Amino acid sequence: MASMGILLFFTAIYIRTGNTNAGFVNVECQAEKVGQYGQQSLLQCVVKTTQDLADLEIRVVTWTKEDRPLLVFHEGKNKPQPGYSFADPSWNDRNRNVSLLITNTAVEHEGVYKCTVITNSGDGEDSTSLKVTAKYNKPTIHSNPETVPLNTDVTLMCDSDGGYPKGQLRWFDENNTEWTKSSQMEANQTESGLFNLSSKLSLLKGSIFTNYTCKVFNASGNKEEEATFEVQNAQNKDPHTEEVLGPASKIVTPVVVIGSLIVGLALLIYRKRSQHDHRGPPTCDYDDGDHQERDKTCQVSPA
Ligand SMILES: *[C@@H]1O[C@H](CO)[C@@H](O)[C@H](O)[C@H]1NC(C)=O
Ligand SMILES: *[C@@H]1O[C@H](CO)[C@@H](O)[C@H](O)[C@H]1NC(C)=O
Ligand SMILES: *[C@@H]1O[C@H](CO)[C@@H](O)[C@H](O)[C@H]1NC(C)=O
Ligand SMILES: *[C@@H]1O[C@H](CO)[C@@H](O)[C@H](O)[C@H]1NC(C)=O
Ligand SMILES: *[C@@H]1O[C@H](CO)[C@@H](O)[C@H](O)[C@H]1NC(C)=O
Ligand SMILES: *[C@@H]1O[C@H](CO)[C@@H](O)[C@H](O)[C@H]1NC(C)=O
Repeated sequence: MASMGILLFFTAIYIRTGNTNAGFVNVECQAEKVGQYGQQSLLQCVVKTTQDLADLEIRVVTWTKEDRPLLVFHEGKNKPQPGYSFADPSWNDRNRNVSLLITNTAVEHEGVYKCTVITNSGDGEDSTSLKVTAKYNKPTIHSNPETVPLNTDVTLMCDSDGGYPKGQLRWFDENNTEWTKSSQMEANQTESGLFNLSSKLSLLKGSIFTNYTCKVFNASGNKEEEATFEVQNAQNKDPHTEEVLGPASKIVTPVVVIGSLIVGLALLIYRKRSQHDHRGPPTCDYDDGDHQERDKTCQVSPA
């Protein structure tokens, strides 16, 4: 603030001493800059004159953001806040390139920057705005429960962090059909301003797809990263269940191992108990849930 006061004082002096060339000096800045999080950002501004002024001397340069001085040059001295400097490290009062360099771009650097220049031949000012982006990291997916028994509902969780601005997580099955409507997304902003995205996809028991892809899209709708999760059905892990139960419920050959007899017997008792709601011999081992869904899955699975 003290430096702003000094600046105003100087400005007053220059205006009062009457600048006959006022209007010949312009500051021209690039309108908008998109900076990458964690990288340098260059805010380009140059001093232009409408006439050829070979002896143009820059007396004051101030770079401010929301009235906070970031870099002030006056009386031949250069006072930058940490993290800001002239783009040209050997900048001097004859150098018309007054661009500002931000060393390590962070989310808080977003905003409008004003550059004011006072010369021996007039003064000018312009502003430029900085937008910040950060790419999201490759998502990670996990399921709850970890291994998915066929007859339970399951939730897939997808997480992606380190991005800015707020993006979106979307779900697709192996047929590339979108399931995002069945999901719920949450976005949390970390201290650094970056977003953590997390999305839950609820799968009903007997869902017929095995591979689900979670894609992270940036704020302008471009896909950045993706990850695919293979649902580990208990069925996939233990294909023997199918082989044992299938034949045992249909045929009784003379050569039957005692093991499968026991299984057959158990199944018979089981079928009796739930006979009223079974149309045929079950090929899968279920004990509750929606029958339509169950039948569909049982037909799909023996393949
Ligand atoms: C200003 O100087 C910087 C650093 O040397 C350079 O990258 C940039 O291109 C210059 N801008 C103009 C308009 O000359
Ligand atoms: C996958 O997509 C094709 C073509 O759109 C469709 O015919 C098929 O039924 C879909 N498969 C599943 C399992 O939904
Ligand atoms: C964001 O995610 C990281 C790990 O991915 C975690 O350590 C951090 O606590 C999360 N922050 C918030 C605010 O959710
Ligand atoms: C977001 O914050 C809430 C409350 O602090 C927390 O319960 C949730 O797990 C966080 N989500 C993410 C994606 O970090
Ligand atoms: C599911 O993903 C696995 C591993 O990436 C792949 O081997 C398999 O072919 C995929 N299945 C389908 C139906 O896309
Ligand atoms: C989104 O990604 C595209 C392509 O990589 C990029 O051009 C665009 O600037 C990004 N937008 C944001 C807001 O990050």
